[in-house]
Amino acid sequence: MTFTIAFLPGDGVGPEVADAARAVLAACRLDIAIVDAPFGGAAIDAAGAPYPAETKAAVADADAVFLGAVGGPKWDDAPVRPEKGLLDLRRDLGVYANLRPTNVAPGFEDRSPLRPEVARGVDFLIVRELNGGVYYGDREEGTARASDLCVYTKEEVARVARVAFEAARGRRGRLASVDKANVLATSRLWRAAVEELHAAEYSDVELEHVLVDAMAMHLITRPVGFDVILTENMFGDILSDEASVLSGSIGMAPSASLGDGKGLYEPIHGSAPDIAGKGVANPVGAILSAAMLVRYSMKQENVAQRIEAAAREALQSGAATRDLGGEMSTEAMAQAIIDRVG
Ligand code: NAD
Ligand code: IPM
Ligand code: MN
Repeated sequence: MTFTIAFLPGDGVGPEVADAARAVLAACRLDIAIVDAPFGGAAIDAAGAPYPAETKAAVADADAVFLGAVGGPKWDDAPVRPEKGLLDLRRDLGVYANLRPTNVAPGFEDRSPLRPEVARGVDFLIVRELNGGVYYGDREEGTARASDLCVYTKEEVARVARVAFEAARGRRGRLASVDKANVLATSRLWRAAVEELHAAEYSDVELEHVLVDAMAMHLITRPVGFDVILTENMFGDILSDEASVLSGSIGMAPSASLGDGKGLYEPIHGSAPDIAGKGVANPVGAILSAAMLVRYSMKQENVAQRIEAAAREALQSGAATRDLGGEMSTEAMAQAIIDRVG
């Protein structure tokens, strides 16, 4: 049966990297139908809202959703910002677990801002809670006072912790849970819920708790020390941008957002207004996000690995966009990967 992907290119470099991912998917000769729909600032311009009814319908009819990026200075003062559309999409889909892998492939240590001996062998997975926390709490916005409420329930923590424990079992068996339990009530609840699940079902996984400020440091001083990293929504947002550059550029970083229904796949970077429209954005994060779609939503592990191997081989052959110190355009980089998908 044909597998349908709702394709939301979005804004800035979003459409550029989404087109690259689309071309790679096409080269894999999968039985898929790609249905484009407006999203983000582009949808504000076309339909008056970042996540309009026609896009909701396309998402409802699809088996999985692919997103480029949203946002940009043009819409920063819009009554409903593009980013709000993204939060609503993630909530509607119920994708509470956002997987953001980072690794430094052998031979690519010199692309890292860290010394090669510190970057060598980095390979970890951030599991970021995506449907709760301060992103979704009550907000009050005044000109003299504002507040953003951070709320978590034990169930919300346990369901994403389970994803992280399972991921650790399939990897090197280690989980670092990040919180700010020395200050925040939500973090103390977080730590207790993780502890309880660990004791009840995952005592074979080696668990440590790390305070978020210290984690920001450890990711730079000893990133090899981590296997799976579990965090709440906003800490995960921040730490995953930090982690992404260990591989040389945020443009390399993919993500999969999973819940109990269909998955959402997007590179972790934004619309990159500073380079948008120039055709120079790194498409690897978007392409690897498409590979994650093929793995988690289409269950075609072989094809996912083919895409990942093709990206690795292209990079090894010296293919590189500007952010990696090369000169290739987005399209040329995508083509270098397509040439190797075979
Ligand atoms: P950004 O991720 O767009 O850009 C940060 C820096 O990384 C920039 O210098 C940019 O040129 C570079 N960069 C990003 N993607 C790249 C790529 N593929 N190749 C090469 N370089 C790349 O973050 P920002 O500038 O803080 O945010 C811009 C807009 O994007 C904001 O409106 C923000 O809200 C939005 N945003 C959206 C998403 C998303 O759609 N998931 C994620 C992050 C930010
Ligand atoms: C990301 C982005 C989003 C987030 C924004 C655009 C809402 O930064 O996907 O990392 O904070 O989750
Ligand atoms: Mn982010």
